[in-house]
Amino acid sequence: MTAIREMKPEDLAWVTELERLCFSDPWSETLLAEALAQPLDRLWVAEEEGRPAGYFDLRIVAGEGELMRIAVAPGFRGRGLGRKLMEKLAETARENGAQEITLEVRASNAPAIALYKSMGFQTEAVRKGYYASPAEDALIMWRRRG
Ligand SMILES: CC(C)(COP(=O)(O)OP(=O)(O)OC[C@H]1O[C@@H](n2cnc3c(N)ncnc32)[C@H](O)[C@@H]1OP(=O)(O)O)[C@@H](O)C(=O)NCCC(=O)NCCS
Repeated sequence: MTAIREMKPEDLAWVTELERLCFSDPWSETLLAEALAQPLDRLWVAEEEGRPAGYFDLRIVAGEGELMRIAVAPGFRGRGLGRKLMEKLAETARENGAQEITLEVRASNAPAIALYKSMGFQTEAVRKGYYASPAEDALIMWRRRG
């Protein structure tokens, strides 16, 4: 049974650990706490059978959504949680008046790119050498419909 709910300060420790497991440039607990306190950012977590399993951070500025982060813990991947988080993200954007959503993704991140395309995102630009450690291009994707 999956539950998707708004992130709370009590979730900071495990989301910080999730960041370390999922990214080569993980967000620190301080940065996550700042995002949580930031009214422009909407952070939601997914729990599977009561266990923490994933999260996203959507920032909404001037009627546009930006996906800042999404991650599912390695042991919970491939069973639809990422898609459920993306559906909640799209709903959250809509509810906050953001018809369009953008994101940046590493060009080699095939699972994430496949998920985004299946959710209606299209690549509109490539930023050469945008990422460090390891150096890589970024795809800039947009979902133009609400
Ligand atoms: C991207 C990520 C969130 C997907 O989470 P997930 O729970 O495994 O995704 P789901 O099981 O909901 O799969 C949804 C879709 O993603 C794509 N996908 C997931 N895993 C995939 C894989 N290994 N290879 C290719 N496509 C994959 C598929 O399109 C899939 O749809 P389908 O099941 O109908 O084929 C997860 O892989 C992750 O946390 N990655 C590390 C962090 C990250 O890269 N975040 C994105 C940064 S921009």
